[in-house]
Amino acid sequence: MKRTLGTCYYPEHWDETIWNPDAQRMAELGLSWVRIGEFAWSRIEPKEGQFDWDWLDRAIETLGSRGLKVILGTPTTTPPIWVTQKYPDMLALDSEGRPRGFGSRRHYCFSHDGYKEQCRDIVTRLAERYGENPHIQAWQTDNEYGCHDTTVSYSKSAEKAFQAWLKDKYGNHLDALNTAWGNVFWSMEYGSYEEIALPHLTVTNANPAHWLEFRRFSSDQVVKFNRLQVDIIKHYSKAPIVHNYMGRITDFDHFKVGADLDIASWDSYPLGFLMDRCCATDTEKRTYMRQGDPDFQAFHHDLYRAVGKGRWWIMEQQPGPVNWASINPDPLPGMVRLWTWEAYAHGAENVCYFRWRQAPFAQEQMHAGLLRPDSVEAPGFFEAERVAKELSDSDDVALDTADVAILFDYDSDAAWTALPHLQGSNYFELVFQHYRALRKLGLNIDILPPDAGSLFNYKLVIAPGLITMSEELKSTLVNSGAHVIFGPRSSARQEVMQLPVPLPPNIDGLDVTVARVDCMLPDQRIPVKGGGCAISYLEILETSSSPVVETEGGQVLAVSDGNTTYLGAFLDDEALDHLYLSCCKKLEIDFEPMPEGVRRRTSLNEEFWFNYSAEQRSTPHGPVEPADLIRLQRN
Ligand code: GAL
Repeated sequence: MKRTLGTCYYPEHWDETIWNPDAQRMAELGLSWVRIGEFAWSRIEPKEGQFDWDWLDRAIETLGSRGLKVILGTPTTTPPIWVTQKYPDMLALDSEGRPRGFGSRRHYCFSHDGYKEQCRDIVTRLAERYGENPHIQAWQTDNEYGCHDTTVSYSKSAEKAFQAWLKDKYGNHLDALNTAWGNVFWSMEYGSYEEIALPHLTVTNANPAHWLEFRRFSSDQVVKFNRLQVDIIKHYSKAPIVHNYMGRITDFDHFKVGADLDIASWDSYPLGFLMDRCCATDTEKRTYMRQGDPDFQAFHHDLYRAVGKGRWWIMEQQPGPVNWASINPDPLPGMVRLWTWEAYAHGAENVCYFRWRQAPFAQEQMHAGLLRPDSVEAPGFFEAERVAKELSDSDDVALDTADVAILFDYDSDAAWTALPHLQGSNYFELVFQHYRALRKLGLNIDILPPDAGSLFNYKLVIAPGLITMSEELKSTLVNSGAHVIFGPRSSARQEVMQLPVPLPPNIDGLDVTVARVDCMLPDQRIPVKGGGCAISYLEILETSSSPVVETEGGQVLAVSDGNTTYLGAFLDDEALDHLYLSCCKKLEIDFEPMPEGVRRRTSLNEEFWFNYSAEQRSTPHGPVEPADLIRLQRN
């Protein structure tokens, strides 16, 4: 598969006379793909049942006749005002019970039947009209499910659908639900499904079991909503179907949505993420404000490669400053190219820049495009142009294998949210911290779903924080042949948040029990033998297995036996680095410690070194300039 480039275009934002020169310029730039349509409902169907297809027909024809392949988005992320007037209760409700108002986007509730019918109608008409159009080479469903905190809704429709979902799961045996949730505690027992409200507006915390089931239900609603569209599109078109996921959204199961799609894609905004989403310290923000976090993009590349079952794209790549983060710096010259190549290095087939031309109006008028609003080239244009030239003699997509895998489980994220135990403790951040420690050793890493099946190819598999890990997964891991690191919190709860007895983690071949859990203030540190510290969350382990991490005072934090390690603490970066360094040595994993801000990734035939730092760095292959990369052929 050839690596390609593309852009996101909004013909409805521009005078029609500009479409043709735009299309010509895109083709000359070396772009192959153009995504359109995902916000255009009010122009396609300005009033209920009144359709205006002519402009869209012409836009597709104009782009297609220049050789551009069109990705057509379904516009269900922005229902126009007439839809909300028709169904005032289709608006999602926030946790305070307030409607999420009209006037931006994603204001719908996934559970509203009327809205789903409306979506069925517009998607059917779109697919019917363009399903066989030769220019439509891919479809995008909706836009960024979950973005702006929109997975969960506390509407009446959600409540009814939740009750039905519970009934489906627990059947006629409400007792089973009451027992599984432990509802006898505080007299929370229910006599009928209709009595079960959504877990908000309670005096103190709702039952974590209730909350976890609600999160699972909300995730399933996204899966269903997406499937509704996929089924329609598949009926009319053979083109692949994609969704564009966002960074660090964990409140629905992307693997389940991805199972219905042909390709995964995600929207990569490294500078916005650094400021607001990747838990960077002020020092890290200062160091990387124009480059982005060195691992955050890579993490999502690896995650979405798994979600796409190997096939994945960047649907939106930041091309200059964005508008939406708390602080919006200009990227360092070279970064747009670096981000693009990094995606290819992780197996992306296609990278589309968001957006072609900066909009002079509305919410995103401060968001860069490849072109300025006056159509003059913005800096990102020239970087895209350079990538396009480099692509002409580049290899095809060819994934390398990895020695190391890390499991990512959306259900455990939900369980973690239901019972964090320590304010601010967070599943995503834990996994990301482990991922970063491995990346600093220059490793290729595969991120895998919890039901990945065979793990025989890996030397090391890491399962941090998988609270609700099934017994089946536990035994797959133990028998995988790889060295497995469990914990902290892995296997700490049963399916609906019961604490198992015998106490966790109950891992075959390892004598370790989490007797209780201790927590500390954010600035407290307990030095660990060999360097670094334990921080914030410590499990008190009863064990006769060999200690591999201990505090200087002799408290055991991690133990190992044979192929299995259990880690019962949050460690700071230094301590985690030590753990992984000794692990890699022991397992004879070929690692290479990275200079600060530099990361490495190999594909089958190439080796890449990316310099995220703002200074020149040296590598075994010579110096690499700031915001630059080294690309080598492997033999
Ligand atoms: C994405 C979204 C785009 C645009 C972009 C701005 O989250 O899909 O429509 O809003 O952010 O960076």
